[in-house]
Amino acid sequence: MAILEAKNLTVAYYGDIHILKDVSFCAREGRVTAVIGPNGAGKSTLLKALYGLLKPISGSIRLRGEEITECKVHEFIRMGIAYVPQLRSIFPELTVKENLELGTWIFKTDKARVRDAIEGVFERFPMLAQKQGDPAGLLSGGQQKILEIGRSLLTGPSICLLDEPTATLAPRIAAQIYATLEDLKSEKITIVMVDQRVRQAFDIADYIYVLELGQNKADGTRQDFVGRLTETIKGWLD
Ligand SMILES: Nc1ncnc2c1ncn2[C@@H]1O[C@H](COP(=O)(O)OP(=O)(O)O)[C@@H](O)[C@H]1O
Ligand SMILES: [Mg+2]
Repeated sequence: MAILEAKNLTVAYYGDIHILKDVSFCAREGRVTAVIGPNGAGKSTLLKALYGLLKPISGSIRLRGEEITECKVHEFIRMGIAYVPQLRSIFPELTVKENLELGTWIFKTDKARVRDAIEGVFERFPMLAQKQGDPAGLLSGGQQKILEIGRSLLTGPSICLLDEPTATLAPRIAAQIYATLEDLKSEKITIVMVDQRVRQAFDIADYIYVLELGQNKADGTRQDFVGRLTETIKGWLD
């Protein structure tokens, strides 16, 4: 079933420079949907639009069939959408625990909920519990990404948008992140991920969208791409 759907999105950062042109996208409930494409294709822009950070010039975004295009970011969060941006978004001087506390801002007056949410993240990622008093900037790149993923889960999302969660990480660490995403999927959390590791994306995703030059180029299941993957990604860096 469609849970998060974008129809004919046209998005610009400035004026009439359209970065996304008539892009359509659908994430199915409980599935992993990957967005792939070469650098500059508009993948991050699509995720920002799906999180309400950028308002489309035209087109619509629906959550479980309900129009949410004009909702504010905090409303997207309250409706169960979480986002892990591509670039580092932790506060390096703050401790791991303080970074998590910041992730609870939408319900920060509910102290019991804040405590339970952070406990939940510590249970899921014991490494973060061990390092909770350390400045987050001292964590390794992979640990920082886990902190960001943990922080995104504090609000109990039903959909998690992840922008290149394994970029710049060593293969072994990337494998841990993919395993975490599999866990989230088994908990029925809908995953939308942008991935530059095209082959890994094909391994984990139930459905794949290919963007190029701000437009839909292709989409389908892994099966649909059998025999035409090489052609699809010709000319990109893997
Ligand atoms: N904040 C911004 N302001 C203006 N243009 C931007 C901004 N972010 C990205 N762009 C432009 O939008 C296009 C798509 O970028 P992006 O969505 O980051 O691509 P991808 O994630 O696929 O590499 C690029 O041409 C990029 O230069
Ligand atoms: Mg990007």
